[in-house]
Amino acid sequence: MSADHVAILDDPGRWGLRVVDGRLHSEGADLTAIAESVGTPAYIYSAAHIEAQFRKLEASVRQKPTLICYAVKANSSRAILELLRRLGAGADIVSGGELARVLAAGFDPSKIVFSGVGKTDEEIDAALRAGVRSINVESTEELERISVRAQALGVEAPISLRINPDVDPKTHPYLATGMQEAKFGIPMASALATALRVVALPGLRLFGLASHIGSQIQDTRPYLDSLARLRVLLSALAERGITLSQLDLGGGHGIAYRPGDPELDVESWGAALAAATADLPMELVLEPGRYLVGNAGVLLTRVLGTKAGEKKRFVIVDAAMNDLIRPALYEAYHVVVPVELAAAQFAEVQTVDVVGPVCESGDFLALGRPMPAVATGDLLAVLSAGAYGAVMAGTYNTRPEPVEVMVSGEQWAVTKARRTIAEIIDAERVPPWMA
Ligand code: LLP
Repeated sequence: MSADHVAILDDPGRWGLRVVDGRLHSEGADLTAIAESVGTPAYIYSAAHIEAQFRKLEASVRQKPTLICYAVKANSSRAILELLRRLGAGADIVSGGELARVLAAGFDPSKIVFSGVGKTDEEIDAALRAGVRSINVESTEELERISVRAQALGVEAPISLRINPDVDPKTHPYLATGMQEAKFGIPMASALATALRVVALPGLRLFGLASHIGSQIQDTRPYLDSLARLRVLLSALAERGITLSQLDLGGGHGIAYRPGDPELDVESWGAALAAATADLPMELVLEPGRYLVGNAGVLLTRVLGTKAGEKKRFVIVDAAMNDLIRPALYEAYHVVVPVELAAAQFAEVQTVDVVGPVCESGDFLALGRPMPAVATGDLLAVLSAGAYGAVMAGTYNTRPEPVEVMVSGEQWAVTKARRTIAEIIDAERVPPWMA
């Protein structure tokens, strides 16, 4: 297979990009000009790509009433939330913080599902007060607490049970959530008893079932396997006269990170799901995160310098693991290409490690990658960085998190300013006895 810079020039659209005058653009916006204006590292998001992905997913499930609840954890930028809300999305949240964000962004509480393996009483209260669509519950202990809180507030809590169907999603082990070893969900073996417990407890209403088996899934099969498991439970409940309104199939829709990667074919995935649920009078809920925003985002970084080690060549850039932790944490592959993409086709190809300035050997963006030769000051684009990029950033080594920018056509705007180092330091306090 050809090196990434050749493949991307062939089909930049797959990564939500365009090549204009030989340079990478996000929609009509010149990444070089943006980087000159806002500095690097910078996350750039294409609104049009997010919208196109949302429309594709929406179309794929048109045969079945379906609510698409964006998994806010993938990228909780206010601008992106605003965009997705306008497109009609609901929200899948996992914390009181995300609840506050989506309420501030104007999401209709009846389109909010609250997932997560551990919820505090304060978070449960906030969700009940807001009147969310469902609380996706993962343990009996949590049920008992929600029952107490609902009675205290004088409301009825809509409960969806997140089942662990024990299905292998064939993804990175850190991204698999629906197998017996995972901390997530209620085991199949106790699912029926837990559902009956919901019916018995005061203050609760059994509203639906949920599952989320993992992330970056490229194939329809694991979804169908999971659904088959959930259907066994639905039948057992129906035999007892219990019918549910909602079937939440989670997120996990895979995107292309490498040029050769398949992408989950959502059209046939949706058709298969519709067929497999045709006889169920239930509304489907989906919780996509990465699929909507992953390839809408690029991390721009500048080359600080290059160096030849004893065994390897390094390209040292100004973005690091604190800005994008996926390579360090999951050995995730992100394409890294020069923004001057057309000219790069003529450069000598070298095999390099692209590394950041952080004092950790795990601080890399790419390892052993064939890349066109680059020089100090060159601008590089790290692709597929829209999901689980900015949200997982931190300030390790006292490095401010990247600035964030949204593009729409030729317009672009800073949606999150880079904090100054002074702001980071000023948020801290020396204890009074040391002052
Ligand atoms: N629903 C639930 C209950 C989840 O736990 C997740 C992701 C999603 C939906 C959205 O999954 P998606 O459609 O984005 O695959 N930091 C990792 C991914 C962690 C995913 C956690 N849960 C990464 O960078 O790949």
